Amino acid sequence: MTKIANLSLNDGQRIPPIGFGTNVLRGRKGIDSILTALDAGYRLIDTAQSYDNEEIVGAAVVESSVPRQELVLTTKITDAHQGYQQTLDSLEVSLAKLKTDWVDILLVHWPNVQDFERSLETWRALIDLQQAGKVTTIGVSNYTPDLLQRTIDASGVVPALNQVEFHPFLVQKDLLAYCQQKEIRIEAYCPIARAERAGHPVLQHLAAKYQKSPVQIMLRWHVELGIVPIPRSENPDHIRGNFQIFDFSLVEDEVREISGLNENYRIIKPDKSPPGW
Ligand SMILES: NC(=O)c1ccc[n+]([C@@H]2O[C@H](COP(=O)([O-])OP(=O)(O)OC[C@H]3O[C@@H](n4cnc5c(N)ncnc54)[C@H](OP(=O)(O)O)[C@@H]3O)[C@@H](O)[C@H]2O)c1
Repeated sequence: MTKIANLSLNDGQRIPPIGFGTNVLRGRKGIDSILTALDAGYRLIDTAQSYDNEEIVGAAVVESSVPRQELVLTTKITDAHQGYQQTLDSLEVSLAKLKTDWVDILLVHWPNVQDFERSLETWRALIDLQQAGKVTTIGVSNYTPDLLQRTIDASGVVPALNQVEFHPFLVQKDLLAYCQQKEIRIEAYCPIARAERAGHPVLQHLAAKYQKSPVQIMLRWHVELGIVPIPRSENPDHIRGNFQIFDFSLVEDEVREISGLNENYRIIKPDKSPPGW
């Protein structure tokens, strides 16, 4: 198995350079996909309360021979559970479903743009859960620089992670620069843009050059930028192939060329997006 180095976080913890997304995974097939991912070498597993599949992640953790301490389980507080006490209560439910005593990474799934004070209360609960040892690392998802700054100003605590949509067709340059300055690690969801544009000639050309697939080129591009991609797949060949990105590297010009594919193309469009989205 390829030996890969973990990346640092601003809270002193470390995170694997790639994770496995689980949105829409269900039932026995979902458990088997997670087990295939663990066999392939993934150690970071991404779920959320709203995916309604924390149980299958928990089942895979129990079935897997990988020790729990080696896993980095992520879940996210859903909108309906935002607020201080609701967050504390909902984490207990998540822990029971995940069959674990602690969560490695807990994120606020979406900012409440109409009532951001509620998201700040949620954040305060995450800080307390971290201090209580129920959560190792805390962060947010879908936050803009402005909302990150408001969170930092209100709490004095800098999120360790911001999970956002990020791929060659949505290169959030300003957000990346802000996060780099604050040492907030970006995790990329939809990192391969659901493979919709894998046929792009730039990706095809680099794939041929490195004897890799266009999807592997996209995932390696994230790695070169210090971003953690969390691709999802139910296809065992895709699951294994998506992890085979640590035996080659892209040169600076190629990284720049892929970043140049940006079209501000978003797959996930919330009903209410924050200003500056
Ligand atoms: N924080 C948030 O608000 C948020 C929002 C969206 C997603 N997420 C997280 O991010 C994860 C990833 O995002 P995503 O699932 O939306 O999109 P994605 O990972 O960009 O794409 C998944 C799709 O790509 C296909 N695929 C995967 N590997 C492939 C390969 N090597 N070749 C061809 N097709 C391939 C999969 O089909 P096959 O199964 O056939 O391989 C699947 O249809 C989610 O699972 C979830 O955990 C978070």
